[in-house]
Amino acid sequence: MKRMLTGLQPTGVITLGNYVGAIKQMVKLQDEYESYIFVADLHAITVPNDNLNLKDNTRSLIALYLACGIDPKKNTIFVQSQNEYHANLSWLLECNTYFGELSRMHQFKEKSKKSNNFTVGLLTYPVLMAADILAYDTDVVPVGIDQKQHVEITRDIAIRFNNKYGKTFNVPEPLITKTGTKIMDLLEPTKKMSKSSENQNGVIRLLDDDEVIRKKIMRATTDSETKVKFDPENKPGISNLINIYSAITDKTVEEIESMFEESNYGTFKKAVADVVIDELSRIKKRYYEYLNSDLIDIILEEGKKKTRVMAKAKVDAVKRKMGFYD
Ligand code: AMP
Ligand code: TRP
Repeated sequence: MKRMLTGLQPTGVITLGNYVGAIKQMVKLQDEYESYIFVADLHAITVPNDNLNLKDNTRSLIALYLACGIDPKKNTIFVQSQNEYHANLSWLLECNTYFGELSRMHQFKEKSKKSNNFTVGLLTYPVLMAADILAYDTDVVPVGIDQKQHVEITRDIAIRFNNKYGKTFNVPEPLITKTGTKIMDLLEPTKKMSKSSENQNGVIRLLDDDEVIRKKIMRATTDSETKVKFDPENKPGISNLINIYSAITDKTVEEIESMFEESNYGTFKKAVADVVIDELSRIKKRYYEYLNSDLIDIILEEGKKKTRVMAKAKVDAVKRKMGFYD
């Protein structure tokens, strides 16, 4: 069985976009791959943030993974910072990575522009990501399109190291989640729904109350026509709601268009709100059960033990190849 690894940063409450674009995909993939899923908390400190609340956000993200259907029997679940070999391997890889290639990364260019006092960690972030991936001989890395370049540099680092020191790393492939499932902001449907949006009325958070979700969907921006038809260019608002309905129910766009052929926007929005509330209320119920149980501690303890052994073996192999005293 091929091995898959992916992680999310524990920053803020997960949105419906993250759920549809990332977590729901992981739930599907867990049956096809030997899966490793982690909380990328070391990546969350690359940009200064006074409200990180790492401890609570990490526990919350694990509870959400479980509540969304990530099965601890099928996945190895762990916290990046609880496995010191990630940062250890990252250093060894940093000394085999060039300043030029890191300074050309899109994300670095974009984020470093926002401040004239950014950290070195922002620059070396992709090498830590490479360490996460390469420590486990990962075959595939499911990520959003924004992270594709980081998986590509991971491949470059692995290939370069293998050429210089002999085969040490498996070269991974990115698995890009379908663009069709990109969920847009409810108020500005040409913009991606994002945790960091200024107006949170356009963003559904997984833990929003039912009534809040209903209000946000009922107030979603639509066009001046009346027909429920998929046309992202001319009808981005309605098309986004169709995408949401489709992602939640697994119905196709055509099926949805014909189901709501006779309906006005109000009726359709109510139906979208109903399916989203139904799915999220089940997730919320399980989330609070997991959050308050000690299952999380048991799972993380197992994950930590298992991944430390695996990552240590890889670090030892790398150190041997590089000629360190052992
Ligand atoms: P982010 O919250 O931007 O760090 O994204 C974490 C993961 O969720 C990535 O795999 C993204 O591609 C995915 N994701 C974030 N927002 C959306 C969205 N609006 N629609 C679909 N996928 C998303
Ligand atoms: N950088 C990713 C993000 O911001 C999170 C991440 C860190 C990751 N390490 C990873 C994803 C390894 C996949 C594999 O979303």
